[in-house]
Amino acid sequence: MAQLLIDNFRWIMALHVISVISWMAGLLYLPRLFVYHADAPAGSAQSETFKTMERRLLRGIMNPAMIATYVFGILLALAPGVVDWSSAWIYVKLAMVAGLTATHHAFGLWRKDFAADRNRRPARFYRVANEVPTLMMIVTVVMVIVKPF
Ligand code: HEM
Repeated sequence: MAQLLIDNFRWIMALHVISVISWMAGLLYLPRLFVYHADAPAGSAQSETFKTMERRLLRGIMNPAMIATYVFGILLALAPGVVDWSSAWIYVKLAMVAGLTATHHAFGLWRKDFAADRNRRPARFYRVANEVPTLMMIVTVVMVIVKPF
């Protein structure tokens, strides 16, 4: 198993990055949809279209991409010699991953509010929420590429 991970390290890394890009695309786009959806009257044709877009984005792209990110990330972490567990960057990165996962679940709950026509948050709230995954993504990438500590 360990040798298999080492031999295919570059392929696993490629699959990890592909999954990360797909997950991040959804984490950045879904709150944009919420911004516009918040101003669409409940029951309008526009609101119903947003509901379909949000459901498909979350179920069709974001959920599978998050799972794939975890699977390939964990395989990388298990490959002997890839992570120096005495350095701090990996723990900061894992904290950011926890934050991105919590954000994903919060977005999932807010999607359900929209689906049931019970959203009460203003568009401004979702504009701010949109910046949260951006900041965590920046910290994550700096940790894994620069490895500053
Ligand atoms: C369960 C979640 C995750 C685990 C266990 C994990 C683990 C890892 C490991 C061990 C590496 C190899 C690090 C190295 O080069 O020394 C890696 C690479 C990478 N990870 Fe993750 N990761 C996870 C989630 C994420 C997320 C959410 C992002 C971005 C938002 C991300 C972005 C990257 C990038 C860009 C690389 C490539 C770095 C390079 O080219 O050297 N990872 N990951």
